[in-house]
Amino acid sequence: MSKNINKIAVLTSGGDAPGMNAAIRAVVRCCAFHKLECSGVFRGLQGLIDGDFKELGPRSVKNIINRGGTFLKSARSDEFRTKAGRQKAYDNLKKTGIDAIVVIGGDGTFRGAKVFNDEFDFPIVGIPGTIDNDINGTDITIGYDTALNTVIEAIDKIRDTANSHNRLFLVEVMGRDAGNIALNAGIGAGAEEILIPEQDMGKDRLIASLKRSEKSGKTSSIVVVSEGDQIGKNIIELADYIRENMDKYEVKVTVLGHIQRGGSPSCADRVLASRMGVTAVDALLNGERDIMIGKSHNKIVSVPFSEAIKLENKIDLDLIRVADITSI
Ligand code: F6P
Repeated sequence: MSKNINKIAVLTSGGDAPGMNAAIRAVVRCCAFHKLECSGVFRGLQGLIDGDFKELGPRSVKNIINRGGTFLKSARSDEFRTKAGRQKAYDNLKKTGIDAIVVIGGDGTFRGAKVFNDEFDFPIVGIPGTIDNDINGTDITIGYDTALNTVIEAIDKIRDTANSHNRLFLVEVMGRDAGNIALNAGIGAGAEEILIPEQDMGKDRLIASLKRSEKSGKTSSIVVVSEGDQIGKNIIELADYIRENMDKYEVKVTVLGHIQRGGSPSCADRVLASRMGVTAVDALLNGERDIMIGKSHNKIVSVPFSEAIKLENKIDLDLIRVADITSI
């Protein structure tokens, strides 16, 4: 066990995700288990720069495992991108006697953490928390399962009304750069078409496919569109294009937006967050640093930050085939 670590800070950064509170709780309680001090940092990496710290004990994190969002709050910090900002953060950590940090966030957070570790040789371990599930080296990120369930619940409701009126609904889901939510929730909700940033279907193929569905007897349709999809300028323009080319359906648009980021975490997210939080503290005590805790083949694993921040396309092509076949 590392003798040099007596106090660990924990923070959440980037877009919040359901289950972040459960991860903080696990970190705080694992620190207590090992008789270490734990400090919560408010507003992510920006809080390091501003010295916004609060001592946390096991009772500070009571009744939060079930709560969405993050009680430590989150932020995207431009100042942390500057050397001067990172120097301020380092000075604050030293002043407060913090020996290591657990950062919970997405690839932007890990990029910042890696630079910080390279510059100051400061032990940091990451936990992947983002609804997008777009981090390399882990099968799943905290918040993804809950977000998928939120999306299918919403689409199920849209389907009821779509079907009652012979309407075609375009439903926009989150995922600026990644189509994981669209593809998986699309299959789960039985969407007719799924548009993702990783694969540009093209407007003509979309219309042809919708016409085939119409001919096969479908009276309503759900098209799930990922926020980052490139097929049209935006979902409103795409809806206009479909209206111009298909007269049978009335076309409606629903943008699910930030409701996908909120809500009580699913059991899967709570368990994942708890496992990752405990492993992150254990990893620091075992002398590990500059790594993210991931999940691979149902085992909790360590992944170097350099691997985790590689933006590799994680879309499973087999899922696209499944979506095509099951929507016939
Ligand atoms: O990265 C998570 C995410 O929810 C993306 O899916 C989405 O594109 C983005 O954050 C939205 O960010 P913001 O809340 O800053 O608008």
